[in-house]
Amino acid sequence: MYLDHAATTPMRIEALAAMVEELSRVGNPSSLHASGRGARRVVEESRELIAAALGVPAGDVLFTSGGTEADNLAVKGVYRARRGQDPRRTRVLATAIEHHAVLDPVGWLGDSEGADVRWLPVDGLGRLDVISLESELAQAPDEVALVSVMWANNEVGTIQPIAEVAALCDRYGVPLHTDAVQAVGQIPVDASIVDSLALSGHKVGGPHGVGALIARRGLDIAPLMHGGGQERDVRSGTLDAPAIVGLASAIASSMADMDVRTRRVAELRDQLVSGVMTSIEGVTRNGDPLRALPGIAHLSFDGCEGDALLLLLDAAGIECSRGSACSAGVPQPSHVLLAMGVEPLAARSALRFSLGHSSAAYEVASLLEKLPAVVARARRAGVPR
Ligand SMILES: Cc1ncc(COP(=O)(O)O)c(C=O)c1O
Repeated sequence: MYLDHAATTPMRIEALAAMVEELSRVGNPSSLHASGRGARRVVEESRELIAAALGVPAGDVLFTSGGTEADNLAVKGVYRARRGQDPRRTRVLATAIEHHAVLDPVGWLGDSEGADVRWLPVDGLGRLDVISLESELAQAPDEVALVSVMWANNEVGTIQPIAEVAALCDRYGVPLHTDAVQAVGQIPVDASIVDSLALSGHKVGGPHGVGALIARRGLDIAPLMHGGGQERDVRSGTLDAPAIVGLASAIASSMADMDVRTRRVAELRDQLVSGVMTSIEGVTRNGDPLRALPGIAHLSFDGCEGDALLLLLDAAGIECSRGSACSAGVPQPSHVLLAMGVEPLAARSALRFSLGHSSAAYEVASLLEKLPAVVARARRAGVPR
């Protein structure tokens, strides 16, 4: 039973077929001969598909090795370019609940490059406090290098008011980056309202190790890697045509079936949440129940250690997560829950169940059958302080 689609979701069959076909061909998209031109054509068609799905011109799509690279490129690249143009621009505004792919480069700019980092607060449902963003922007707009607000949170699933944030940033003339790694393919995303947007292949049913930064032409980005000058001279490195084809196919097909698929996934998620909450006492649902990703159910279990629950469920054949897969294994409460005002001990008792395109009712039924005994056992073990 795989209930960890937010960590990575199986490849969609269309993406797998397109990628396998391309893997059997030779050709560097930068070569001038026929094989190279063939690979280039495939890359450019993929770029167009992705751009059309996200409402931007094809030239805005820059291929990367995944979401982490796209976020790093936007955060560090835009910061360096804007500060280079005007040394007063040292401030970076980002929400306190960003994924580590944004959180850490922003923190690193603060520690190593003199950035004045301001973490923007969220409320108890994980929603950005837009008023605090506005007051930060109004204080000294000329000193803000960039704003980073994720489209939707990977742990609790809360969707942020991106259109409102984009309008504010626009008013103050400050570029807005958004990490839309969890949003693309799950909810409608119009990338034309932001200056840059990160997405990742393995979250949309495409392959691992590929992603994109959608970056408006005219947005100055200092490259992080130097080399062959591919991707507008912003992201050097030979393009991975098979992975790019798989990514484009996954995005295009997830746009095509988004309505039907996400309605079905949200129904399963609702059955999961109501089933758990009616059969087990002391369970709290985290995140915004009204504006949430369709596949995420984030629940806290009073008196349990999340890791104990996770391992007991794993032994019972059910795979889920403590929260962010990328920081799991580190026995600390999630920074997202802490920013939402959850007490550290309670934050350690949370689990994320996430559903996706291949989820089936029997997986939810199996969880509902096994979870009460697992929780009872974890409660007997208690929470080590
Ligand atoms: C919101 C968010 N941003 C960025 C990433 C990193 O993406 P990738 O795994 O492609 O590097 C993840 C992965 O968990 C994520 O959930």
